[in-house]
Amino acid sequence: MFKFLIIEMIETKEIHATSSSENPVIAAMGALGHEQLLFCNDNATGLKAIIAVHNTVLGPALGGTRMWMYNNEMEALNDVLRLSRGMTYKNSLAGLNLGGGKAVIIGDARSMKSEALFRRFGKFVNSLAGKYITAEDVGISPKDMVYVSMETKHVAGLPGKSGDPSPVTAFGTYMGMKACAKKQYGSDSLSGKKVAVQGVGHVGEYLVKHLTEEGAQVFISDIHEETLKRISSEYNAKVLGLNEIYDIDMDIYAPCALGATVNDDTLNRLKCSIIAGAANNQLAQETVHGKIVMDKGIIYAPDFALNAGGVINCFAEVDGQDTKWAMDKAEAIYDTIYGIVDRSQSENIPTYAIANKIAEERIEAIGKVKLPM
Ligand SMILES: NC(=O)c1ccc[n+]([C@@H]2O[C@H](COP(=O)([O-])OP(=O)(O)OC[C@H]3O[C@@H](n4cnc5c(N)ncnc54)[C@H](O)[C@@H]3O)[C@@H](O)[C@H]2O)c1
Repeated sequence: MFKFLIIEMIETKEIHATSSSENPVIAAMGALGHEQLLFCNDNATGLKAIIAVHNTVLGPALGGTRMWMYNNEMEALNDVLRLSRGMTYKNSLAGLNLGGGKAVIIGDARSMKSEALFRRFGKFVNSLAGKYITAEDVGISPKDMVYVSMETKHVAGLPGKSGDPSPVTAFGTYMGMKACAKKQYGSDSLSGKKVAVQGVGHVGEYLVKHLTEEGAQVFISDIHEETLKRISSEYNAKVLGLNEIYDIDMDIYAPCALGATVNDDTLNRLKCSIIAGAANNQLAQETVHGKIVMDKGIIYAPDFALNAGGVINCFAEVDGQDTKWAMDKAEAIYDTIYGIVDRSQSENIPTYAIANKIAEERIEAIGKVKLPM
């Protein structure tokens, strides 16, 4: 049962224990290439967490801590294995000297938080002696991270330091979108282009600002009426219904809210020629929908390449760099995306697969090791 769950949950990998005596968690680590897992438990505070260090060839493993009420512990394990591996790829592709890691705290973020819990978690992070650097993720606030930082210095994104990463993420997304336009339309100008931004939260709003300033025709959707009202009047953006966004006549679809919005249903409806947004895990099934997108002639900017501004911002803090350095690095996402699309078109391989290859090639060249892919 245990092994079956891991196999089922890790979508792209088949994990086989070679004998019935093999530990399935260690088998999963081997199949995905994880270096270390730290299972954390503290009865006094109720802390249950897993820290996953996927790969440290390029540098310490950096990735956020997520607090989530998982249905069961296997779901949490699957999430941390998958997310930490994703961070290895994201950090490598962004050209950062960072490996990939992630942590999950199992529990209700609304009712279980306490200073004691986060300080205990901080002690566990500290026990890894800098091999893992944590940061905020879903369910975690800056205040929680301040508690963590009382027990370890291996924390990025603290209040008063590098600050909100969203402007850097949005700028990188915007630059990558321009690179897609250059490939698709022959010019990287977005002036007059119809761009539909799904989700106008932290990143989406900054993206809308860049697009409006360049003269794009911007459409927006969100679940918050107030946010929609404010942003549509401030930037003269046209409001779309939550479902309507998939059906309009547009040039660029920019998912900045949810994952898995590029799927069997939406791909039959989307009339765009570029998909470029900040949301994580946009392709419902990478191998299936990445290929369909390519076959339809749509340029898809791989999400983990396009939204690397957030982690660039964290690295700047860890490495003692300033905001200008982070923005310059985010600007270079233009070249990264252009290179990915170029290689995708010449090798006839979907962009997500090319992005994975480039990330792997960098790690393999430096680590002189072959990653299990
Ligand atoms: N903030 C960053 O620096 C950063 C970095 C990398 C990746 N990302 C990813 O980018 C995405 C946006 O991040 P954010 O920080 O702006 O989050 P956010 O929570 O501030 O904004 C998300 C917005 O999407 C809206 N939304 C939710 N469901 C929706 C739906 N069905 N249709 C339309 N809108 C909907 C929310 O109301 C909210 O306004 C997330 O997927 C996040 O993981 C963010």
